[in-house]
Amino acid sequence: MAGGVVLITGAGQRLGAATARRLMDAGFFVMVHVRTSLEAAEELLNEAEQRNGRNCGCIVQADLTDDEALASMLDEVKKHRRVQADGLFGIVHNASFYSQSSFEETSLEAYRKLNRLHMEAPYFLTQQLLPELRQGKGSVIAIVDTSWGRAWSGLAHYTSSKAGLRQLMLNLAGELPDVPVNCVAPGAIMAADWEAEHFTKVLEKVPLGRSGKAEDIAAAVHHLLTTPSLSGQVLHVDGGWSLNEG
Ligand SMILES: NC(=O)c1ccc[n+]([C@@H]2O[C@H](COP(=O)([O-])OP(=O)(O)OC[C@H]3O[C@@H](n4cnc5c(N)ncnc54)[C@H](OP(=O)(O)O)[C@@H]3O)[C@@H](O)[C@H]2O)c1
Repeated sequence: MAGGVVLITGAGQRLGAATARRLMDAGFFVMVHVRTSLEAAEELLNEAEQRNGRNCGCIVQADLTDDEALASMLDEVKKHRRVQADGLFGIVHNASFYSQSSFEETSLEAYRKLNRLHMEAPYFLTQQLLPELRQGKGSVIAIVDTSWGRAWSGLAHYTSSKAGLRQLMLNLAGELPDVPVNCVAPGAIMAADWEAEHFTKVLEKVPLGRSGKAEDIAAAVHHLLTTPSLSGQVLHVDGGWSLNEG
């Protein structure tokens, strides 16, 4: 249903913003969640509105690791007039925090925070917004990664919380009779500031020999959202990297 409402977390910049842009241009009303990227999100919405000549979305702001902020954002989503009228056509759990630190040096506090961001917030938002998803005949998509079953040095905190998110989504896909649930697993798409050198080495292992584009992730999300028979899938958008990753 073009015109439905889609909530995307962490959508102020990078892959989340590309996904928001694609969905807004395809006719959806996107609730662009940000933690800090308010200006970028405003620009994203303004540009979409100019391109499409309509109100394409709104911004919701919260630190998803803060229980109060999360609850207040949930309330805002539920009370939004578009959500009350149409329900939700999708939730995209995209927000993430990717940083390298050795297992010995990663504090329990940092680990808990990542679990809250990658697992607890998606769990809570999906659970609390099920009535709206049902009303809007919507689906849920989580953006995971390709680390499943692999060891990435200095990233145990990140890969394990993403594995939890992936498993949460697959379990829900099997459990919920009326809400499709899927994952998109990006490969090497957009390097973080700290990993430029590592990123170049990774690309040597990608069969297609190049990084993907943010728009590829946006296209994968769009495809999953608009193909209601797809559920329980993990769509790898990685140029074949998973085949060669040791
Ligand atoms: N980039 C890649 O090549 C790649 C590869 C594999 C998987 N992925 C996955 O694809 C998704 C998008 O990737 P990306 O590189 O675009 O992500 P990113 O820039 O690392 O993070 C996306 C957004 O998450 C938000 N965020 C961080 N901490 C938060 C918190 N405590 N509460 C609420 N929001 C928070 C930030 O919002 P603000 O900016 O508003 O603070 C940030 O812009 C992520 O799930 C990532 O794990 C990406």
